[in-house]
Amino acid sequence: MFSGRIPRELESNRLSLAVARLRTEGRPILDLTESNPTRAGFSYPPDLLTPLAHARGLAYRPEPLGVPDARSAVADDFARRGRHVSPGRIALTASTSEAYSLLFKVLCDPGDEVLVPQPSYPLFEHLTRLDGVASIGYRLEYHGRWSVDMSSVERALSPRTRALLVVNPNNPTGNFISQADLDALAALCGERDIAVISDEVFADYELQDSRGVARGVLLDRTDVLGFTLGGLSKSVGLPQVKLGWIAVSGGDTIVEAMLPRLELTCDTYLSVSTPVQLAAREILDRGAEVRRQIQARVRENLAQCATLVGARPACTLLCTEGGWSAVIQVPTFETEEELMLALLAETSVLAHPGYFFDFQRESFVIVSLLTPADAFAEGLSRIVDRFRAETRL
Ligand SMILES: Cc1ncc(COP(=O)(O)O)c(C=O)c1O
Repeated sequence: MFSGRIPRELESNRLSLAVARLRTEGRPILDLTESNPTRAGFSYPPDLLTPLAHARGLAYRPEPLGVPDARSAVADDFARRGRHVSPGRIALTASTSEAYSLLFKVLCDPGDEVLVPQPSYPLFEHLTRLDGVASIGYRLEYHGRWSVDMSSVERALSPRTRALLVVNPNNPTGNFISQADLDALAALCGERDIAVISDEVFADYELQDSRGVARGVLLDRTDVLGFTLGGLSKSVGLPQVKLGWIAVSGGDTIVEAMLPRLELTCDTYLSVSTPVQLAAREILDRGAEVRRQIQARVRENLAQCATLVGARPACTLLCTEGGWSAVIQVPTFETEEELMLALLAETSVLAHPGYFFDFQRESFVIVSLLTPADAFAEGLSRIVDRFRAETRL
């Protein structure tokens, strides 16, 4: 009866079952996986969402790509980060996830393929599948910093490839795309009429520089059709407000062909609420206060992480340049799943295993830098203490 786009197996994995069991028993958990900023102890200005209630939102005048002032506000927000884009090349969406769905509809036919980085954000599997397209992995590799394994991209390309995704900085590995990698990807994609989608939801959360490696900027390129994605969920910590955006880049001819197709797709759903569009400028401006708190938290936790992991020679904190996660490589005495279950049962700490994000091998522990600082330090100490004995080897 049901579409093959919905996975056949809907059961929870062993880790979520174990978490549910502990919660039912009322056992406290030190959760180092929290990625919802509204549950991470930040102090949001109580009137931050007041602009949503303004009477101007009582009139409905649909604008498929978004109301002009909201598109200008998003262009101004790009300018805040030193990026320049015309408001006419911006489309508003209800979220970044919806932005992906709209782009897959415009770019792909059923059965077409989209290349996705591995390791990366696990939702791509569902996002592609729900739009009837296949996600094909290409590899990122780590040599002191993460970069794209170009030969894996070449192997993944096929006549059905329509788009290649980069997450910039990537979740959870935290690498920004380098100029050299983006040049190479744009060359491969541009000549095959494959679009590049750059998910920049974490772009505001720079953790450290890229060790002298120049960063690539998709928005400035004319050699490939590009889409730069962002949204309120990370930039001002408001995932529940539901506003994302797409900035379209590339040569004028292809962008002019793209925009009416995107507009038609947006017009079919008109999913972005009028009040949020009318409030976008104010929320973007005033949300800076929340962003500053998140920036301070993730930097403080990363510094703490470097100290705690640095004291355990058996464990290594991988280099991260941005985002909300840290990746710690640990010795493999058991599978990642066994390790996570043992950490939960024996120390009440919940962390994510690398395989959730398609790391190529084990063992990696992923922790959220959004976690309140005291819980983060305590939880991480318990994780690395598990490998204390190895420090004496
Ligand atoms: C890389 C990446 N893109 C997109 C999203 C989702 O953003 P939104 O809430 O705007 O759909 C997330 C959420 O964690 C993410 O990690």
